[in-house]
Amino acid sequence: MKKCKFILVILSLILILSTGCSNSNGNAKESSAEELNAVEKIKASGKIVLGTSADFPPNEFHKNINGVDTIVGYDIEIAKEIAKDLGVELEIKDMRFDGLLAALNTNKVDFVLAGMTPTEERKQSVDFSKVYNYGEQCIVIKAENKEKYTSNEDLAGKIIGVQKGAIQEKIAKNQLPDSTPKGLGKVTDLVLLINNDKADAIIIPKDVAISYVKENPQLAISSIKVENTYEGSAVAIKKGNTQLVNEINKTIDRLVEKDMIKKFIADAKALAKEN
Ligand code: ARG
Repeated sequence: MKKCKFILVILSLILILSTGCSNSNGNAKESSAEELNAVEKIKASGKIVLGTSADFPPNEFHKNINGVDTIVGYDIEIAKEIAKDLGVELEIKDMRFDGLLAALNTNKVDFVLAGMTPTEERKQSVDFSKVYNYGEQCIVIKAENKEKYTSNEDLAGKIIGVQKGAIQEKIAKNQLPDSTPKGLGKVTDLVLLINNDKADAIIIPKDVAISYVKENPQLAISSIKVENTYEGSAVAIKKGNTQLVNEINKTIDRLVEKDMIKKFIADAKALAKEN
């Protein structure tokens, strides 16, 4: 009788364990099916939502077009092509750069184009498309300080503005360990910071700097070179969403093949100059 009970207990244990396992398997299958269907979901909803930080000309910036505040730039043109290839409308959400990856992971946006570099650290939490463009970094200072700040040492003890959550935060720490980095959410605020003498220098990509310096002639690009300056931009997508990555890569291939990205960059630079 005891033996019988023992066997019964063992049998029910096996039963509990096996249903437990099949349940969790079932969930895993369900959630991967959910991810796989992200492209279908986007198509069914008729729109794809882009997350960006529109403070970054010529990538993405605000421009008054016929009296309407519009987000433009070459990242936006690429996003439009991605939407077109999927046969859906593009909706744009403008936010702080350091909020973009969280927005992806909480499904507030479907993809991110924000001149974002596909770093190893970011690859832990999101997936990336192919790199669609490469850029260079530079240091922006007040034009009156051009002769004063010509080396890393000249910036020792100075305040260096960088965008929060961006790779420029790390660049500042590595290249200018004796300076004090100050992180802000928007590049537009970094420009205000230096204009108001609350920072001595800011680190931003060269293309972006050219645009802001043109608008703010009291600023200038410093002769101090930024080390390890070359970086690429890629589209960020929620982790595991391979199907969408593939679709986006197809669009990038098409645009590169037809030299469209170069055209988008040239157009966006021209548009940024008009600002
Ligand atoms: N390339 C840098 C990074 O990935 C900065 C990008 C900032 N982008 C923007 N739209 N503000 O960290």
